[in-house]
Amino acid sequence: MGAINKEKALHLITLFSGAVKGVSFYPAAHPAIRQPLMELYNLLSAALIAETKLSWGVIDGLIFFDDHIFSNPSTAIADLTNRMVEKEISRIVVTSSLRFEEMETFVKLFSVKGTRFEALARQMADSKITGLTILRHGAENFDPESEELEIGDDHREMYGRAVTALRTVCREIERGRIPGSAQVVQVVDQMVEIISREPLALLGLAMIRDYDNYTFTHSINVGVLAMSLGAVLGLDSRALRDLGIAGQLHDIGKTMVPKTILNKPGKLSSTEFDEMKLHPELGSKIIKEMEGLAPHLSSIVLGHHLHYNRSGYPEWANKLPFDQLMDIIAVADTYDAMTTLRVYQHPINPKKALDHMKTMTNTILDGAVVARFVEMMGTYPVGTLVRLDTNEVAIVYRPNPSNVDAPLVRILFEESGKRLRAPREQALVEPDGTCYARIVAVVDPLLKNIEIGQWLANGNQ
Ligand SMILES: [Fe+2]
Ligand SMILES: [Fe+2]
Repeated sequence: MGAINKEKALHLITLFSGAVKGVSFYPAAHPAIRQPLMELYNLLSAALIAETKLSWGVIDGLIFFDDHIFSNPSTAIADLTNRMVEKEISRIVVTSSLRFEEMETFVKLFSVKGTRFEALARQMADSKITGLTILRHGAENFDPESEELEIGDDHREMYGRAVTALRTVCREIERGRIPGSAQVVQVVDQMVEIISREPLALLGLAMIRDYDNYTFTHSINVGVLAMSLGAVLGLDSRALRDLGIAGQLHDIGKTMVPKTILNKPGKLSSTEFDEMKLHPELGSKIIKEMEGLAPHLSSIVLGHHLHYNRSGYPEWANKLPFDQLMDIIAVADTYDAMTTLRVYQHPINPKKALDHMKTMTNTILDGAVVARFVEMMGTYPVGTLVRLDTNEVAIVYRPNPSNVDAPLVRILFEESGKRLRAPREQALVEPDGTCYARIVAVVDPLLKNIEIGQWLANGNQ
């Protein structure tokens, strides 16, 4: 790992994407195809002298190459993301035995729209391609012995599937169809199973931030936060499931709001805001029509902006009966929205967001639910970057209910200020009472140039 820098990785992925696109227009022998393919092959071969294998693919809806992730994709890369998602491929792996002809054939097969994973794998076997393999989305079990990327872990993979499921739902809505619910429900069930055993196990996942896929990551995060909070409140697994599904689908009505309004950097005009305000009822209508979802879920979605004192929207629904699940979703939604960077908003740090939420109690948010949420997040909420009295810098990845001042952390920078290649997990106070270190300050992630979510995904180790 590490033979390829980010710039080169971007170049390689762009070459691959370009060759795939070009094959639809030109015969494979045409210079417009052959040239980028040749360059790609030569660069890969050169890198494969130092590496045993190289891979690229999609994780959380983002393209990666080797250990580089591209969160601001160019159109060419975005197109590749769609193709991989459509084909249910999570990763393409090449080894040093790769021959040029194999890659050429693969690009041809891969470029055919509508070919799904199984068909493509069969065609590759028929063509005797051995130097290149594809891995199916959701079945990622990539070479456990290799010192693979941070992103290969179970929870992160589950998160990726949640994003894909939601993306599919939204795409169906855009095409004017009634989406299926099976994929979303399946991921939620898996999350419920984990959270029922250990309520805080997935909190780290809820800190994943992806500026380009805000609507998806926001929705998944709201689902995770709401389920965790539900578990802390002692709700049964049926309620946790409802929270997960309603959380993930709470903003699907936005699919029908024009993008120009959704992404507008400035303040919305009153007509634009009126359109935006339609999203809870649009979403609840879609959910009502989706097969396999309880009607109850559509009213939770309808009421997620109603506010605790019913001063929110849609006004006509303000007599909707009190429902704790709705209040839990509202708390999770508010927290995630406040702590996320968006076109029109800088994120607030977790601690400040919690303080701000306390001022909203019993007007906008349910005070009792907020109190439990604040308690759940601890003095140093998951995602907070902290300096220890050992002078190390760490990120909080799991609260410690028995000592709110001593959460579990991942150490990112050692005492000397040097960044660790792989973060080290550390309990600030061990179960036997031994104290490793104390938190002395909260650090601004921007100062350390840290992408918080990156370090929090594999939270159950
Ligand atoms: Fe919303
Ligand atoms: Fe939302």
